[in-house]
Amino acid sequence: MARVALSSDHADIPLRQAIAAHMTAKGWDVVDVGPTTDASTDYPKHGQAAAQLVASGDCALGVILCGTGQGIMMAANKVAGIRCGVCSDTFSARMIRQHNNANMLSLGARVVGKGLVMDIVDAFLDAKFEGGRHATRVDMIEG
Ligand code: RB5
Repeated sequence: MARVALSSDHADIPLRQAIAAHMTAKGWDVVDVGPTTDASTDYPKHGQAAAQLVASGDCALGVILCGTGQGIMMAANKVAGIRCGVCSDTFSARMIRQHNNANMLSLGARVVGKGLVMDIVDAFLDAKFEGGRHATRVDMIEG
């Protein structure tokens, strides 16, 4: 079973737990690295914890969230090999896999509602990288 890393800051723990249940129901082995309480915490360490699991190969993909999705995305992208984008729509979530070979998805828990979040997660997880000319461009990102 493919593994997906999951983390957040304190912005919306119940939403993260709902995403975990949703991905588990889709057949993913969810590695949820917390946090477990809604005490105020620092998004960089949680983004980087999930990113390390993806960068090391322990997890194929990662899903992270904070209030806007922006800060935790910036932190994840500092880890070598991570390509993470914030998505608030399903088109972008599909395209960052198909064209950018994104290996992490970031969500704004205070931006999108729960129903749309699950559709965005599905669009990301179900899409496949198209390779070809897109691989050349992704290689240019990696340097
Ligand atoms: C926390 O209040 C908030 O700053 C954080 O969740 C996130 O939105 C940062 O980018």
